[in-house]
Amino acid sequence: MMTSTRAGTAGSAVQALIWAPNCLRLLDQRLLPAEETYIECRTAAETAAAIHDMVVRGAPAIGIAAAYGMALAAQGTAEAVDEAERVLAASRPTAVNLHWALRRMRDVWTHSHSAEAMTREAIRIHDEDLAQNLRMAEFGAELIAPGARVLTHCNTGALATGGHGTALGVIRTAYAQGRIAQVYNTETRPWLQGARLTAWELMREGIPAKLIADGAAAHLMSTQRIDWVIVGADRIAANGDTANKIGTHTLAVVARQYGAKFMVVAPSGTFDLSCAAGSGIPIEERTATELTEFRGQAVAPVGMAALNPVFDVTPASLIDAIVCERGVIETPSTEAVRAIISTH
Ligand code: MRU
Repeated sequence: MMTSTRAGTAGSAVQALIWAPNCLRLLDQRLLPAEETYIECRTAAETAAAIHDMVVRGAPAIGIAAAYGMALAAQGTAEAVDEAERVLAASRPTAVNLHWALRRMRDVWTHSHSAEAMTREAIRIHDEDLAQNLRMAEFGAELIAPGARVLTHCNTGALATGGHGTALGVIRTAYAQGRIAQVYNTETRPWLQGARLTAWELMREGIPAKLIADGAAAHLMSTQRIDWVIVGADRIAANGDTANKIGTHTLAVVARQYGAKFMVVAPSGTFDLSCAAGSGIPIEERTATELTEFRGQAVAPVGMAALNPVFDVTPASLIDAIVCERGVIETPSTEAVRAIISTH
């Protein structure tokens, strides 16, 4: 049974995931910003449910949670590990970091059959993600000239990762280096990752930011200077096509139209070289009630049908730079991606 405890977090060091012996504590992102409550997962099935229900979300954080889920299962039988892998793999379809982390955990299990080794590997995946974010943040910030005005989408911060963030990590570091004058962040309907989570992270750190409705992006970019649109990714195909939160593709089209540059920030575990192009990336569709209701309150006529794809694919041709911990891929193409991703 999942149980909840009140959070004791303070300051800017937000921790979405905390490993305590035999227990994964997850900050319940469904309740932010109103409540800071941690949920405790003691089994892989509870961890998979928390991923599916978006207690924890964001591609890298999903991968880290899945790794800890496997570590929890490794305290039981070999059959329990097989079952955990199956249930965790099915929890959300688009973020490839989930499968990448499960493969790493499977390899350790095959070689060790040891719960301790599995726990060590999950902690290593968690620590590596933070280190990768800090490295990407330096690479990304270098692309941003001082005085920049930037736009970001969804939540790609400490809440979505092992800490610091991908796109929001670049914004954090670039702001600390004096390169950013103004951030705009979208609401990110329907789940409001931008309004509820990114706004919360930006405010805690005093980064100057204004929330905009998703539909305000073209107005903003056509009437004011925006230097960079900076986003994360859930899966990047071999040719650089990038799946990210629904609405990202629209932002890339508008950015190209009005002269803003477009940056994607993601660790190497987000690349899926088995997908030649973005058309091969599975796009998650979630329940219609995410659109027709808000916290149980109808916001559309009862019985209205709705289509709720929660990711879209931005073609590589609309992306100026993909930043990962190994370097920057400028004007992404199959060759440019291969040069950075498959040489390590
Ligand atoms: O549905 P979510 O909230 O898991 O979607 C998150 C995103 O789309 C993020 O932009 C992406 O995972 C990159 S997070 C560092």
